[in-house]
Amino acid sequence: MAEGVVVSKLTTDGRGLAFIDGKATFIKGALPTEMVTIKYLKRKRQYDEAEVVEILTPSTERVVPKCKVFGICGGCSLQHLDSVAQIHHKELWLRELLERADLHPKEWLPPLQKNLWGYRHKARMGVRFVRKKGEVLVGFREAESNFLTNTERCEILHSGIGEHLQELKQVLTTLSIKDHIAQIEVAGSDAGVALVFRHMVPMPSDDLALIVELAQKHSWFIYLQSGGLETIQQVYPLDKVDLSYRLPSYDLSFNFRPQDFTQVNMSLNETMVQQALALLDLKADDAVLDLFCGLGNFTLPLARHAKTVIGIEGDVHMTELAAQNAEHNGIINAKFAMANLFEPDALQPFAMKVDKLLLDPPRAGAEAVVRAIKLWDPARIVYVSCHLSTLVRDIEILVKEQGYVLEKIGVMDMFPHTNHVESMALLTKKLV
Ligand SMILES: C[S@@+](CC[C@H](N)C(=O)[O-])C[C@H]1O[C@@H](n2cnc3c(N)ncnc32)[C@H](O)[C@@H]1O
Repeated sequence: MAEGVVVSKLTTDGRGLAFIDGKATFIKGALPTEMVTIKYLKRKRQYDEAEVVEILTPSTERVVPKCKVFGICGGCSLQHLDSVAQIHHKELWLRELLERADLHPKEWLPPLQKNLWGYRHKARMGVRFVRKKGEVLVGFREAESNFLTNTERCEILHSGIGEHLQELKQVLTTLSIKDHIAQIEVAGSDAGVALVFRHMVPMPSDDLALIVELAQKHSWFIYLQSGGLETIQQVYPLDKVDLSYRLPSYDLSFNFRPQDFTQVNMSLNETMVQQALALLDLKADDAVLDLFCGLGNFTLPLARHAKTVIGIEGDVHMTELAAQNAEHNGIINAKFAMANLFEPDALQPFAMKVDKLLLDPPRAGAEAVVRAIKLWDPARIVYVSCHLSTLVRDIEILVKEQGYVLEKIGVMDMFPHTNHVESMALLTKKLV
């Protein structure tokens, strides 16, 4: 029997880490506690890379991946791991980063998990005509190459599109401009799925008719994009469609365009908003600031419970959309402004005392904001993050330089089966 190595942990890219004669070895396909035999892929001075040849002792947390192209497609990296274990390991990644920064939360929030499959409302799928195969491929890139994965169905995409990729490929393969479609943007809404076709040459009417025929069958809304984002036009149905999603527990609905940022996992989104508001412990006379507010996903629920809310966001269209969303929901105590929140000078005009602050930055985090936190001097901060290392960097600044205490922190499964982690932290101002 081949000699096995024992895997000690799961790395943040979904590989198993083992130490072989003291040298770190990253093993594709291996899970913690497993004993596996391996084949080396790359040997370097500091570490080696390998893949599993045989699993001698499987982990009790190992499950059969649902997707046929798991291991090839770069969309998911954790489908072979039980979903409860996935979120547990994501929490471990956060715990390790906090410990390394010598940060110690007073309490861990229970992980939030909702829909595990068909959850992904937003996605950009690549499209490529492969002449040798005589067919169009639609899907995500392969994990280790620039090629597109040959995907027939996607288990994590909104089922309204994820179950129909084979049919979509077949129709795309019949188009006269099949080698001039670069990508399809997916945006799920309460009314149905919107698909934006990015085409590099004009779309002939016969080709469009074939796409529309399929769209009629699956109740899709079709948009064409011939150039930049400003060229996106709805072409089917002919009557204007309002894409929207609801947060029923706040009696709110949000309109958006297919290219706008919306949270990927809508059922988790509502739970996440509820947790953020509970942590902020809102009072009827609170003044609240919502930074990186997007279309108002947190701002409008905050406005239902606080005296005033100001949402600030870097994209002018999103601030306009947020204001419109406030208006059509009858909210009059929320105001919106545009600013580049990465730019220290751009923060100065917004100096004002607030009671509570919510932050939901992109992956780059909010370093300029946390360094300038005295401009607002909030007693409570809820920080929602989609990138662990920038979250920990910013918490470190707040705790070690700005006089805040890390009260609570936890992870949320916004992106099941992938290695992405959403998390939320509560910080309070230290009493002097
Ligand atoms: C993670 S999204 C959160 C949006 C919103 N809170 C939500 O829940 O839908 C991050 C937001 O930050 C905005 N953003 C990105 N870079 C920015 C910048 N430099 N200044 C201000 N806003 C920025 C994006 O436009 C996006 O709306």
